[in-house]
Amino acid sequence: MRGTPRGQLKQVVAIYPGSFDPPTNGHLDLIERGSKLFGKLIVAILRNPEKDPLFSLDERLAMLDQLTRRFDNVRVTTFGGLLVDFARQVNAHAVLRGIRAISDYEYELQMALMNRKLEPEVETVFLPAAEVYSYISSRIVKDVARLGGQVHGLVPPLVEKELRLKLQVGEAPRSRRTKARNK
Ligand code: PNS
Repeated sequence: MRGTPRGQLKQVVAIYPGSFDPPTNGHLDLIERGSKLFGKLIVAILRNPEKDPLFSLDERLAMLDQLTRRFDNVRVTTFGGLLVDFARQVNAHAVLRGIRAISDYEYELQMALMNRKLEPEVETVFLPAAEVYSYISSRIVKDVARLGGQVHGLVPPLVEKELRLKLQVGEAPRSRRTKARNK
């Protein structure tokens, strides 16, 4: 593979930034694929004092740490301020983002272009979300869980458990469970 684009990507440190409130199976799929593409993948949770997250930064860090333990080249951390400043600090030259639908693209393109304007040495790499997870977002998962719906198959079992504890909701009957199709 040496000399091929994929071989060259193996020398690149990439950042996968996000809010991860909470991490979903869509995030995990992207982390797994990103870890195969890049030499090192840094999952970076944004410290955003303006947002009122369901899970604290420490809770999200702990969940992602546990969920990514099986990947040797993945590390989880937090960052504040500009993403490109963090990229410089950790010597990353790529930012990984998932695109679920065309509606994501406009915002993602805007961010990618702004980041490139701020730091031309950092490239944004878009990966299409796995089709089975293309409708999942942290927000929709929280909404469904809050209203007592099942999120089984949409988030890792650990996150399912943490959501139940956080929202104090019990397990929904099997008939109401959401199934991830084509898995
Ligand atoms: O999971 P999210 O909430 O869609 O992730 C958004 C994130 C964290 C990637 C984005 O808000 C970000 O990079 N914030 C850091 C601030 C920054 O660098 N802004 C300028 C680029 S638009």
